[in-house]
Amino acid sequence: MTAQAVANAAYVAAALLFIMSLAGLSKHETGRTGIRYGIAGMAIAMSATVWLTLSGEWTDSTLLGLGLLVAALAIGAVIGLWRAKVVAMTGMPELIALFHSFVGLTAVLVGWNGALHAKELTPTLAAVHSAEVFIGVFIGAITFTGSIVAYLKLSAKMSSKPLILPGRNLLNLSALVVFVVLTVAYVITPELGLLIAVTALALALGWHLVASIGGGDMPVVVSMLNSYSGWAAAATGFLLSNDLLIVTGALVGSSGAYLSYIMCRAMNRSFISVIFGGYGIEAPSGSDEEVGEHTEIEASSVAELLSNAKSVVITPGYGMAVAQAQYPVAELAKKLREKGIEVRFGIHPVAGRLPGHMNVLLAEAKVPYDIVLEMDEINEDLAGTNVVLVIGANDTVNPAATENPSSPIAGMPVLKVWEAENVIVFKRSMASGYAGVANPLFYKSNAKMLFGDAKDKVNDILKAL
Ligand code: TAP
Repeated sequence: MTAQAVANAAYVAAALLFIMSLAGLSKHETGRTGIRYGIAGMAIAMSATVWLTLSGEWTDSTLLGLGLLVAALAIGAVIGLWRAKVVAMTGMPELIALFHSFVGLTAVLVGWNGALHAKELTPTLAAVHSAEVFIGVFIGAITFTGSIVAYLKLSAKMSSKPLILPGRNLLNLSALVVFVVLTVAYVITPELGLLIAVTALALALGWHLVASIGGGDMPVVVSMLNSYSGWAAAATGFLLSNDLLIVTGALVGSSGAYLSYIMCRAMNRSFISVIFGGYGIEAPSGSDEEVGEHTEIEASSVAELLSNAKSVVITPGYGMAVAQAQYPVAELAKKLREKGIEVRFGIHPVAGRLPGHMNVLLAEAKVPYDIVLEMDEINEDLAGTNVVLVIGANDTVNPAATENPSSPIAGMPVLKVWEAENVIVFKRSMASGYAGVANPLFYKSNAKMLFGDAKDKVNDILKAL
């Protein structure tokens, strides 16, 4: 059997493991197994690639290639391990956005390499090769700058407000038309100037597409960039004639696109509008001024309220992750259930800072899966609930989304916690949430604010109970 045949067999095994990994990751119970399949697939894929490099005739350049490969693997593994170890769960989306930017940059570099080291090809194959170079560089450069803007917005190093340039939709559309024209020109005469032009165009377009999207829609943008990075990898696979890269890129591209679609549906956002840099979205006119008087409550009074309740719903958000309050929250749920009180959790699809953020934290604290419900499963029951504990959530429980059509989060489905008999909001101040929008919930007559770090306050309630 030739080395290429062995590598191809390994690539098929790796591709199957990646598919099994995605299947595993679709459920809490099988998530860990899914991750293991993914690791095994990647180990096989990388070993096969190294083996393929070594299997040819040994020359000086083989040695150089091997040296570079080992150095890149070692440096990448050390940086990857270090970052993954030190990153806080709340910093995950930024890290993922940064990783996507590397995939984009790689696609650009591979594209440029393919253009500068063009092989002797027949005219038809040369035209196909030129188109592959152009498409790879275009998608890669969009992914690269788009991911950097997403990283800057998510880490609050850049304002999360949408950039509204005059005629921005026309700008995006014109960029696409120019790309098509440049591609045709490059296929006819592959000149370096055209490649430079498309790289600059795509870098600017990627920046503009993501800068035009407001903070509230960033979750969808991150998953969309995930999809773009997949297509960029697939384009690289075509250029390098590597089947596994094509398959893996297509898996990432299509699963990322599907996740973006599901998230858009959950947030009542138009998929097309988010893909095309906020196409059709008007500049928000919502203000973040205070809209009334709020009432405060002490932990001991919350404990009393809970002891007299029949049904309690806990809606966690980003603040629970910051405070690492999931352990005392799990203990509180356990204690209340032992008293015969019905306790359930209501999880908004974009609570926290990454898909499934709250589910991961609650699973970590061993909260039983069967009392953790999705927003749609619990929303209708909130009206009949005695006490809702909003632990570090803000945008995801904001009534302005349903009541104020000019709010930047208008139309986004939210947990209707204000319909419950009593709502206790755990947070440290009256500050707004991620989307920077005022929350009228805090001023409703049935809502009380419990100020302080969520973990300390839940511990205080536990003591009082
Ligand atoms: P947010 O709207 O982000 O609000 C979190 C609240 O937690 C803040 O108002 C903050 O108020 C409070 N908080 C922070 N630290 C706290 C602590 N130690 N103790 C108590 N409270 C604390 O949260 P959310 O309701 O989960 O909404 C998520 C937002 O992030 C949405 O706008 C969503 O679109 C966006 N987003 C989501 C994702 C995904 S995929 N989930 C990704 C990126 C962005 P204080 O400062 O007053 O304490």
